[in-house]
Amino acid sequence: MASSILIVDDEESICRAVAGILADEGYTPASAASVDEALQRIEQQVPDLVLLDVAMPARDGIELLEELRRSCPELPVIMMSGHGTIETAVRATKLGAYDFLEKPLSYDKLLLCLARALETSRLAQENRRLREEITRTHEIIGESPVMQELLKQIAVAAPTDGRVLITGENGTGKELVARQIHLNSKRVSNPFVEVNCAAIPEELIESVLFGHEKGAFTGAIQMKRGRFEMADAGTIFLDEIGDMSLMTQAKILRILQEHRFERVGGSETLEVNVRVIAATNKNLETEMAEGRFREDLYYRLNVIPIYVPPLRQRRDDIRPLLEHFLERASAQNSGSRRSLSAKALEKLAVYPWPGNVRELQNIVERLVLMCPRPVIDVEDLPPQIAHPDREKLLRGLQSEKLADARAAFEREYLLGKLRANQWNISRTAEVVGLARESLSRKLRSLGITVEKQKDVE
Ligand SMILES: Nc1ncnc2c1ncn2[C@@H]1O[C@H](COP(=O)(O)OP(=O)(O)OP(=O)(O)O)[C@@H](O)[C@H]1O
Ligand SMILES: [Mg+2]
Repeated sequence: MASSILIVDDEESICRAVAGILADEGYTPASAASVDEALQRIEQQVPDLVLLDVAMPARDGIELLEELRRSCPELPVIMMSGHGTIETAVRATKLGAYDFLEKPLSYDKLLLCLARALETSRLAQENRRLREEITRTHEIIGESPVMQELLKQIAVAAPTDGRVLITGENGTGKELVARQIHLNSKRVSNPFVEVNCAAIPEELIESVLFGHEKGAFTGAIQMKRGRFEMADAGTIFLDEIGDMSLMTQAKILRILQEHRFERVGGSETLEVNVRVIAATNKNLETEMAEGRFREDLYYRLNVIPIYVPPLRQRRDDIRPLLEHFLERASAQNSGSRRSLSAKALEKLAVYPWPGNVRELQNIVERLVLMCPRPVIDVEDLPPQIAHPDREKLLRGLQSEKLADARAAFEREYLLGKLRANQWNISRTAEVVGLARESLSRKLRSLGITVEKQKDVE
């Protein structure tokens, strides 16, 4: 679509001449003879660019420029003036004008300037749109009180430059939390660089983190920048930090203490300004106690601790997450909006989700792909969710040893009876024909703790 340009000049001949040229070049020009007329037009429809004369009777161009900065900060403005003094030009640029052209206008210059200003503005808009999209795809869904608390923690931690250590089980959303912190920090327009410490072979990690010089080792045919260098002015996300060797831990510690490092095989010391966010699903206290994680590194990383709880401890989040992923998966498959039957929802809400949000997301995506009906029902769900007891029992009954198969049966049988009797041991004992003491012993030998079981369900 042709870009619309509003020419604001009290000299009608200039308006007419410029409009003619712009129209010939494929733009859609319009003109206004005063600041007030310009404001009226802009109110009706915001143009793609304003070409603005400085000196006009009544209110001048600088005044309009100031007003536009407030009301339409993204609208590019090019100033023009017949008695262009350096001071006016400087002032206009300081106020946010894209450029300043002197009259009489050189049409070549004008067209060049216009094309550049429009391109810059288009890029800025695209940038904003992409950023909004990134923010949207990294939205954290969570209505449970613990997640609301976590969102508050993120809001407080994000704008600081403090190091953050995120812990939690697999698939709980640790990476998402790290990205949210970056998106809400001052470093948002700089890189977010992820390093999966568990996935990089020991002999390569140093070169990946710090880069290497040409010829540093066999195969180093070119100088390569490391992740810390790439993350300069931004954020580095050290994922699976509990899986790093002690040697790598020592190297990371140095960079955290001194903010400097050398590329492998290099002598030049590089300095970077990087915010560090680390994550792990391991219990670092245990790792430290067993000598696998350096205590000094732990304290350096753990300035702001954030714990993401497993999904089974925030069941209020299951429904909103299901909705969220259903909507996203349906949109991606350009299919119609799917929904879950009340019974299916019930099953999904009590499932323990050992793989947390990632497991939930995968299951929803699979359901949307595989289930042809608009309403997803219990029978469409994976068996461990649709019939958890039956599944567990079936697996147990396939055991090699009679003792294991019998234990599987006894387990499911007794859990069923306990559940039916509201977890009351005396009453259950009576129903199944055992003495209370014998039942208690049996439960202990099967590893069933009534209190725990009640909590899970
Ligand atoms: N609260 C949430 N709202 C929306 N999406 C979420 C939420 N939590 C996790 N997810 C999504 O679930 C998936 C797994 O999350 P993520 O990768 O952040 O988990 P993780 O804790 O880093 O897992 P792992 O320990 O396995 O690396 C991602 O696709 C993520 O976008
Ligand atoms: Mg992760």
